[in-house]
Amino acid sequence: MPATPRPVLLDCDPGTDDAVALWLALAAPGIDLQLVTVAGGNVGLERTLPNARAVLGLAGAGVPVVAGADRPLVGRFRSETRVHGMDGLGGVTLPEGPPATPGLAADAIRARLRAAAAESVTLVGLGPATNLALALAAEPDLAGRVAEIVLMTGAVGEGNWSSAAEFNAAMDPEALAILLACGRPVTLATLDLTAQALVTPARVAALRAVSGGGRCLAAAVEILAAIPPSRRFEHRGVPLHDPCAVMWLVAPELFTHRAVTASVVLDGADRGRTRIDRWGRDGAPANARLLEGLDAEGFFAALGMMLKELK
Ligand code: BDR
Ligand code: CA
Repeated sequence: MPATPRPVLLDCDPGTDDAVALWLALAAPGIDLQLVTVAGGNVGLERTLPNARAVLGLAGAGVPVVAGADRPLVGRFRSETRVHGMDGLGGVTLPEGPPATPGLAADAIRARLRAAAAESVTLVGLGPATNLALALAAEPDLAGRVAEIVLMTGAVGEGNWSSAAEFNAAMDPEALAILLACGRPVTLATLDLTAQALVTPARVAALRAVSGGGRCLAAAVEILAAIPPSRRFEHRGVPLHDPCAVMWLVAPELFTHRAVTASVVLDGADRGRTRIDRWGRDGAPANARLLEGLDAEGFFAALGMMLKELK
């Protein structure tokens, strides 16, 4: 008997890798995707929202999509068009998706949590954490309905936005701090983890060769082929960040992990840097699970297998 799929609320800022992560969340048998909320981030909300609608529309998914923050708790978003293109999807055009559900992301998240049983809902954050943090800051008791929060955010080592900070953490460090302090289990897919999920030309070719897939797999391959290879990896490829967080939910056997103490720097030149104490050196109790190792071949094989199930 397959286990009951876990209810998931997913917040994102599509975003090339967000798009692939959304398709993975729709395809994965272990996930019951109940709500998608959208923030600005990789590009502005005026692009991320239609992108999310188009991604879900291509899959024929009736999951509600709700617009959220067009700015972080403090300051403003700065887009990442070098990686995601001016449109956020690497120049790959998808048909327009169904309209967004009226309302505000943080309210929609709160409504879903209010209706849920204790410790039953998984929150997934693939962009700046603003929407999730606004929901939990407005109604902190709702954290009791959360089973786990899984975030693609942060870095143990070097950042990708500044030398210190990863993009999602850097865009809204105050929001990330709220999630890290909410008292529920937080799992972190950091840059150090996602560096192992490198999209190389050979892996794109292998995904393209998966037979029996539909238009979502084809669009995912097109998007992956459009992301420019990264200087950080000597142009060998580019990390597929956000799908790592989703894959953790359905194929945890592909990962190694450890309990850590995580916090985020809010001031100075290192603003947005995640401080991750892997060995309990600072004496604070562990508040997060750090995903450390990834079976990359297994990850890309599972990605192809699951995406091909979407038509
Ligand atoms: C994160 O930032 C965005 O550019 C990606 O979508 C991912 O969520 C990686 O730093
Ligand atoms: Ca993202």
